[in-house]
Amino acid sequence: MLGIIGAMEEEVARLKECMSDAVVLKHANMEFNRGTIFDKEVVVVRSGIGKVNAGICAQVLVDVFGVDAIINTGIAGSLNADINIGDIVISSDTVQHDMNAVAFGYPLGQIPRMDTLAFPADEKLIELAKSCCERVNDDIEVFVGRVASGDQFVADKGTKEQIVSNFGGYCTEMEGAAIGQAAYLNNVPYVVIRAISDKADDSASVDYPTFEAKAIEHSVRLMKELIKNY
Ligand code: ADE
Repeated sequence: MLGIIGAMEEEVARLKECMSDAVVLKHANMEFNRGTIFDKEVVVVRSGIGKVNAGICAQVLVDVFGVDAIINTGIAGSLNADINIGDIVISSDTVQHDMNAVAFGYPLGQIPRMDTLAFPADEKLIELAKSCCERVNDDIEVFVGRVASGDQFVADKGTKEQIVSNFGGYCTEMEGAAIGQAAYLNNVPYVVIRAISDKADDSASVDYPTFEAKAIEHSVRLMKELIKNY
């Protein structure tokens, strides 16, 4: 069973429409839609926004639904001038850019007393996502790189530059590394797949609503192809 998390309804609505035999089960005030897409068993869920919602959601997928893998799909702000609005970023790993225990000697981003700074995504899922994206989205570029997550909509150049210089991320969003952390702790493979809706700079709040739908279109196309080939 494949668990698919989107933070917002817009990010999961199109996948829910493709489901057969869907049953809705409520946990932690989230609706888990269990059924099949292209004859593959899936659970599709809107987690809500931010790291805590996303972490709780991932844990329910593991404990209640026993998923074999988790995919986090949605949109993100680009952290790299080569990555444009509409392009796709697949996580090589994820890091929490707003975790700061530097005062205790930990590197920025590292959760104290955990043995890793970043949460590596699953190699097979990365390859599958990349090849599926190249097949169905030939009008855009696909990148594999670090996703930097935090409880912050990044919409100014200074914050963006700080995240890039600290972590070298390809895109920023608000859930991926919490799902990465839950996947890591439970030893479940995961990957984050994000379509770029804005440049995470001073134009972000203007670009975001304009390009959100276009970005989601690309991630939905990729997700459908991925489920078909999972
Ligand atoms: N999701 C989409 N764009 C984002 C941004 N600029 N910052 C955080 N999350 C986002």
